[in-house]
Amino acid sequence: TTPLREEAGNCKTDILVGSGAINPSYLNDPRFAAVLAKQFNSLSPENELKWSLIHPTEGDFTWETIDRLVDFAGANGMAVKGHGLISSCCNPSYLLNITDPTAFRAAMKAHFEAVMHRYSGKMDRWDVVTEALETQGGGLQANDFYKVLGPGYIEEAFRIARAAVPDAKLFINENLVESLPGKRQELHDLVSRLVANDVPIDGVALQMHITEVAPMPGVITDIVNSYQALGLEVTIAEMDVHTLNATLQADIYGAVINEALNAGITDISFWGFTDKHAYTWLPGAKPLMFDEKYQAKAAFYATHTAL
Ligand code: XIL
Repeated sequence: TTPLREEAGNCKTDILVGSGAINPSYLNDPRFAAVLAKQFNSLSPENELKWSLIHPTEGDFTWETIDRLVDFAGANGMAVKGHGLISSCCNPSYLLNITDPTAFRAAMKAHFEAVMHRYSGKMDRWDVVTEALETQGGGLQANDFYKVLGPGYIEEAFRIARAAVPDAKLFINENLVESLPGKRQELHDLVSRLVANDVPIDGVALQMHITEVAPMPGVITDIVNSYQALGLEVTIAEMDVHTLNATLQADIYGAVINEALNAGITDISFWGFTDKHAYTWLPGAKPLMFDEKYQAKAAFYATHTAL
């Protein structure tokens, strides 16, 4: 079977087919590294670029970890996505101790600039804000940024990011919008306001952690069209399908990828690729395309056929 990245290169438009959730230490496992490089043309870290991991104390950065991922990608002709500048977890105590908005803003700018400058030209796209909305919808999450800067933190983050690295694509990354109509509308309203205020944003990254509910047919297409109307791109950023029913799982992988490609999505990433216990955030759910022994599952073949 041809690798996914080769299939992706044979599509009408070149498709990025990636694996997120790559903790650089997984590369110590030669089989993991081999499958990653063979199948995918893009990768992103799991948690290692989140603020408290890359920048645990002020001015102190753990560059080696991410450098290793970037070097691996470079050696294997893969793009790298920066995930994520602002996430709903993982903020260091030095940041949380800042309560003055001006000082908090300065810390945000310093962090974004340090990280984005270092990987400028090496990371072509960034998740600037991840999970801005409440999980079930119904307003912005009162996260660590909201608490100090209020709702304007989103706009501020995008402006700082664009200024730091003007040529990278900037995304807002959100979960469950494909399965919750109310949240879908809410995200669209939020992003429409950003666009109306000339906030520099390039697109919406749909996480697509699919649990019990697969997106209804047509929803991905509607989402893509609704953002195209704003001049924005839609990507699939973290897909996995949490079910032990391998046939159902394959059907969902195939249907989602098919609809995404038909709708014009050209950037699709999964949240890892092997169900191997240490290498997926939800090992019990066996959510990925390869089994624990790196054998392709039905979900792989369904994806392969869709590409
Ligand atoms: C997850 C990681 O996979 C876990 O290891 C960590 O404990 C929590 O975060 N959406 C995201 C990712 O944007 O950053 C999350 O990653 C999964 C959900």
